Amino acid sequence: MGLAQTQNHQPITFPLMGCGTWAWGNRLLWGYDQSMDRQLQEVFNLCVANGVTLFDSGDSYGTGKLQGRSETLLGQFYRDYQGINQNNICLATKLAAYPWRLTRQSMISACQASAKRLGKKVDLVQMHWSTANYAPWQERALLGGLGDLYQQGQVKGVGLSNYGSKRLKQVYQIFSDRHIPILSLQVQYSLLSTYPVTELGLKEVCDELGIKLIAYSPLGLGLLTGKYDEKNALPKGVRGILFKRLLPGIRPLLQCLEAVAQHREKTMAQVALNWCICKGTIPIPGAKTLVQAQDNIGALGWRLDEGEIEELDRVAANLERKMVQNIFQTR
Ligand SMILES: NC(=O)c1ccc[n+]([C@@H]2O[C@H](COP(=O)([O-])OP(=O)(O)OC[C@H]3O[C@@H](n4cnc5c(N)ncnc54)[C@H](OP(=O)(O)O)[C@@H]3O)[C@@H](O)[C@H]2O)c1
Repeated sequence: MGLAQTQNHQPITFPLMGCGTWAWGNRLLWGYDQSMDRQLQEVFNLCVANGVTLFDSGDSYGTGKLQGRSETLLGQFYRDYQGINQNNICLATKLAAYPWRLTRQSMISACQASAKRLGKKVDLVQMHWSTANYAPWQERALLGGLGDLYQQGQVKGVGLSNYGSKRLKQVYQIFSDRHIPILSLQVQYSLLSTYPVTELGLKEVCDELGIKLIAYSPLGLGLLTGKYDEKNALPKGVRGILFKRLLPGIRPLLQCLEAVAQHREKTMAQVALNWCICKGTIPIPGAKTLVQAQDNIGALGWRLDEGEIEELDRVAANLERKMVQNIFQTR
């Protein structure tokens, strides 16, 4: 009997939707500053109170000296929260496959550092990306360390990120041999990034293996909210450059989203997130303000109908431009 079966691991409850925290500490891409912290705590509280109890972080989140800031904030908000759904909160983090992380122990130490920032055990530990595309020899030890964390009872569950179907099946076998379940896989999935499901077939594979599929960047980094346009409203920095290039080629999708949203009396963000839910994935939209969190929560409690989903699928499939894929995404 493998160690995993002898451990008394508490189950993780996956909600219909989670909340991403990449922006919580990231100045360069997301314009974070510490004056946002009070509002981020309100975002956390509102999410939990509304059943959005999965929070996704990463040990690389935070820029420069702020590295790990997202985990530190999450830990603080978790400790302060008292109320409904408190016991369902799942703090998930991703451990980066940095080039200097080469051993099983390096992953164990990384997770312990995350736990220290959180002030509690990590609930769900995820491999942030696979090294299969550029340093395949590195990955086995890192996955080994991830499995050790589960078997040592240091985490409730293990997940992956940016893996394609072929690599996922190989890793599933490695973990199965150790009797370690893979609970989740997160990939970039939205109306602007259907590739993981339509091209890689990840939804079928995850269903077959009993793995939850988590949709990251479900709002296309904010593009699908409809608030950006290339002439007079672009975010600063790299996102602005990317959006300027994408916007002319995604107009039909934004128009379709807007039409569905108006008909439903919902916002475009709510339609984009509901589409992810209808596809059987768990979207984890990032939210920087209480208004955004409130809006995103409005994606729950209703469902797009078949006709609306087909129309959105059709328009999304025929776009001139799509979101760029993560360079670490494997096949
Ligand atoms: N595994 C990975 O490699 C990976 C990669 C990327 C992301 N992720 C995870 O996925 C999470 C979500 O993805 P993401 O943050 O990249 O992108 P996203 O969820 O597609 O977009 C989030 C951004 O859109 C804007 N926004 C959110 N809700 C809004 C609303 N209702 N109305 C208007 N604007 C709204 C906010 O930025 P502005 O206000 O600045 O527009 C927010 O930061 C991340 O936080 C992270 O946890 C994982």
